[in-house]
Amino acid sequence: MTRLTSCPDAESVAERAATHVRRAIEQARAERDVAHVALSGGGTPQLTYRLLGEDPEGLRSAELWFADERCVAPEDPDSNYRLVSDALLGPAGIAAERVHRMRGELGPAAGAREYEGELRERLGTGPGELITLDLVLLGIGPDGHVASLFPGSAALAEEHLLCLGVEDSPKPPPERITLSLPVLRAARGCLLLATGASKADALAGMLGEPTASVPASLLRRERLTVITDDAAAPPPPNRG
Ligand code: 6PG
Repeated sequence: MTRLTSCPDAESVAERAATHVRRAIEQARAERDVAHVALSGGGTPQLTYRLLGEDPEGLRSAELWFADERCVAPEDPDSNYRLVSDALLGPAGIAAERVHRMRGELGPAAGAREYEGELRERLGTGPGELITLDLVLLGIGPDGHVASLFPGSAALAEEHLLCLGVEDSPKPPPERITLSLPVLRAARGCLLLATGASKADALAGMLGEPTASVPASLLRRERLTVITDDAAAPPPPNRG
């Protein structure tokens, strides 16, 4: 059962989200001495990253991965790495060895292959085996996309690869690297953030019948926590 919480505004969404992330890190640290957390880009999680960046202790033993990246240089304003670095990595002084950047500058195919190798090496799985991240933080597009998995894309059918190159993203820039759906579904927890009325239909679709036309609806619901603001929150189910 998906846990959905709606808050009055974007600030309270970020507060709750930061608390959720810290708790997931704490639990993973207690159980396995390390927490593997994947972060998304886009505007919605930025405030959450700033709050996390103000509290380095809350990130102790966390290794930070990316759910997706745009195929641009790391200093590019469009880079998800740059977004996370400015809001979180820099302010918290996170050591480079704890950050696993997707090298978007390599291009979709080469960048995805390299990241697949790094995921397998660090998380210790062999070919064909799935990895288990502790937490994946996601935003959602108005079309229901998550990470860089877009409605109807062939990438949604991938069953074995951990990381995929995207050449034709409908959201600019077109070339991207993304974790695959099996990786998102295998994570111990998924935290999805949504703010603003433009996300209300996508959230309703996410909670509806699983369909490739709403990638968010394919996430593993029993491991999914959704924090929204009231503007994005789907109407409560009709108890008539
Ligand atoms: C990206 C993201 C993408 C994002 C959604 C929502 O790199 O673009 O990872 O999946 O989360 O598009 O974006 P906003 O938060 O900006 O609405």
